[in-house]
Amino acid sequence: MSEPNLTKLAYQTLQQGKSIAGLAHKQLSSKLMEFLEPDAMPNTKPIPADLLKELRHSMAALEKLDWQDADQGVYPKSQLFEAPWLEWAARYPLVWLDLPSTWKRRKSKQTRDIPTQINSEVYPDYYLQNFHHQTDGYLSDHSAGLYDIQVEILFNGTADSMRRRILNPLKRGLKRFTDRPSRSLKVLDVATGTGRTLRQIRSALTEVELLGIDLSGAYLRQASRYLNTRRGEFTQLIRANAERMPFESESMQAITCVFLFHELPRNARQNVLDECWRVLEPGGVLILADSIQLADSPQFSSILEDFHKIFHEPYYNDYINDDIETRLINSKFEFITAQSHFMTRVWSATKPINRGA
Ligand SMILES: C[S@@+](CC[C@H](N)C(=O)[O-])C[C@H]1O[C@@H](n2cnc3c(N)ncnc32)[C@H](O)[C@@H]1O
Repeated sequence: MSEPNLTKLAYQTLQQGKSIAGLAHKQLSSKLMEFLEPDAMPNTKPIPADLLKELRHSMAALEKLDWQDADQGVYPKSQLFEAPWLEWAARYPLVWLDLPSTWKRRKSKQTRDIPTQINSEVYPDYYLQNFHHQTDGYLSDHSAGLYDIQVEILFNGTADSMRRRILNPLKRGLKRFTDRPSRSLKVLDVATGTGRTLRQIRSALTEVELLGIDLSGAYLRQASRYLNTRRGEFTQLIRANAERMPFESESMQAITCVFLFHELPRNARQNVLDECWRVLEPGGVLILADSIQLADSPQFSSILEDFHKIFHEPYYNDYINDDIETRLINSKFEFITAQSHFMTRVWSATKPINRGA
């Protein structure tokens, strides 16, 4: 077997392994919850066989595209295997130890159980919640340390493949600036969390200047450990609200934003889009990735409608019914395209040239 086929096989095996591990974790933890904390069991329907088949089909299409993009050089193949595996393995037991407090919060509908020492005035009210029933919400190092593993489990090992779907439209969008040196281009990742997306962007765009913002100091600390330890590379990470970004108007050539919008109320979603428009240079591109919605993926409607019953996601139901394209148009974006990849929809939108802010 030739070397490239071996790499492909290794990638497929890794994805299969992650998928099995994710499913096994969910099944085991669900059985344990049923036994130890039966009142915390969510009231959801089992997924019918034909829908499971459709899910598998959609997941296989994502994996195929993920490989194809790597094969065509959108990002290096090494990116397909990139993760702090040892760190995740060491932290995995903590995911189990954290489960009972998650169940208790779900059972008692406690959704505002966040650390008392934080200065709540610096955060918008919608943020001060236990999204996903997560211990401490987004407001502790403990939460930041478990987040990536929990997301990988949630998506059966496809979270990074879904995040990578922003890279092709991002690179296409930046082609407008090929007359400038790459190192003069700025790419901002909004709500960067633990920095997985920034790491991916770095692998695809080795020279551009990278910046990330997030409201969580703890998540940014985790991102910094992950991003700024390698060969002197430096990514500027700033704690800020995406609704009011601390950047000059027209200062970025591209903005990415992954898995934020479903956690925002409607008005905040629009504020963030308006703010992205302000901060982008004319000709700049916004790449937005978030959950698929009812209008583009009606075949998965039962799964989307059950999601917020399992995890505390107070704005998810509103999000899946929201019209993001109209919001982008309201913010004056043009050349809007969108594509769905398994559980993620990716929008690309451009700030037109010749229309001042
Ligand atoms: C579901 S996580 C997504 C993180 C990351 N983009 C990823 O792909 O995993 C949502 C992130 O949005 C951040 N966040 C929520 N509201 C925000 C706001 N108004 N401004 C900046 N960050 C925000 C949270 O702190 C959290 O890190």
